[in-house]
Amino acid sequence: MISEKMQEALNEQVNKEFYSAYLYLAMSAYCSRIGLPGFSNWMRQQYEEESLHVTRMYDYILGQGSQVHLKKIIEPPKEYGTPLEIFEQTLEHEQFVTGCINELMGMAIKEQDYATQTFLQWYVTEQVEEESNVNDILAPLRMVGDDKGGLMMIDQQLLQRVPPAPIQPVQ
Ligand code: FEO
Repeated sequence: MISEKMQEALNEQVNKEFYSAYLYLAMSAYCSRIGLPGFSNWMRQQYEEESLHVTRMYDYILGQGSQVHLKKIIEPPKEYGTPLEIFEQTLEHEQFVTGCINELMGMAIKEQDYATQTFLQWYVTEQVEEESNVNDILAPLRMVGDDKGGLMMIDQQLLQRVPPAPIQPVQ
């Protein structure tokens, strides 16, 4: 059982995870449009990953006997600039999500909601990985700058990203 306040906060987070999926799908389409299939693939797999974050949280809310409330998703931008700018926006977004997860964890601690703390720990760990993955791509992007050959090499590497493994159901 979770509190009504926690139910509402988790539903808000479901919406943010949906927006993350939407954002990365929009970025994938943009990268495809500007001729970067590797960047497009990376963002497409990130979209898949965010979709898993959504359903994991959705399952938890339902499993707690609480109510899922699917809210309106904000429209993501259509333009994202250079490859470096795309990943800078990605890092900024992931840092925002990390802050949201931390706030949720703070609420779970305050409410002495041990089940939700355990559930959220997975997201805390996931956010460390997500930010690290983006930083690993930002570093070579900053190094190559405007060099087209360098960007093509990074694009080839990003083409290797495979779909995420299914996440184990929460219950
Ligand atoms: Fe689900 Fe990338 O945060």
